[in-house]
Amino acid sequence: MPDLLPVLTKDDIDKRVNAIARRISLDYKDRELVLIGVLKGAFIFLSDLIQNLTIPVKVDFVGASSYSSGTSSSGNIRLTKEVDIDLRNKDILIVEDIVDTGLTLSYLVDYLKSFNPKTIKICTLIDKHERREAKVNIDYVCHVYEKGFLVGYGLDYLEDYRDLPGIYHLKI
Ligand code: IMP
Ligand code: MG
Repeated sequence: MPDLLPVLTKDDIDKRVNAIARRISLDYKDRELVLIGVLKGAFIFLSDLIQNLTIPVKVDFVGASSYSSGTSSSGNIRLTKEVDIDLRNKDILIVEDIVDTGLTLSYLVDYLKSFNPKTIKICTLIDKHERREAKVNIDYVCHVYEKGFLVGYGLDYLEDYRDLPGIYHLKI
């Protein structure tokens, strides 16, 4: 059985999400904000985030898949769901669960730029430094983590553990 070492409790996450939501609410006051969640991992984070915002927002999702074998990124990004909302002249905030190599996000930023939005910024639950390959500017980060594979609160290992309320380091 793999070991699960606690990293953030649900209470820790709630506090961090609330703090980020306050910053976003201030920064995007009187703007036309569209949050774009990256499926599937960001679905719980996005859901909690919008409920903590004090400004109106629109929500959409993109699907991106890069992991072929569980914990290693293939670097070969596949778009599994396109956006539905008209993004021209909108302020876009990409909402990601975890940034690892950065390859998925740099691909998604290029994809979203093609819709001519006014601005694109990035918000992630976890910024993991260990394997960064592509330079990405992350504007809002809930938690920085150096090394290791994390699960829970939407993050999976081979589609398991998304349902855990907290975040854990998975020791395989
Ligand atoms: P990147 O393209 O290497 O930055 O990978 C980003 C995607 O890989 C994230 O959106 C996650 O879905 C997945 N990922 C990267 N690291 C982890 C992890 O520690 N646990 C679960 N999923 C991860
Ligand atoms: Mg993801």
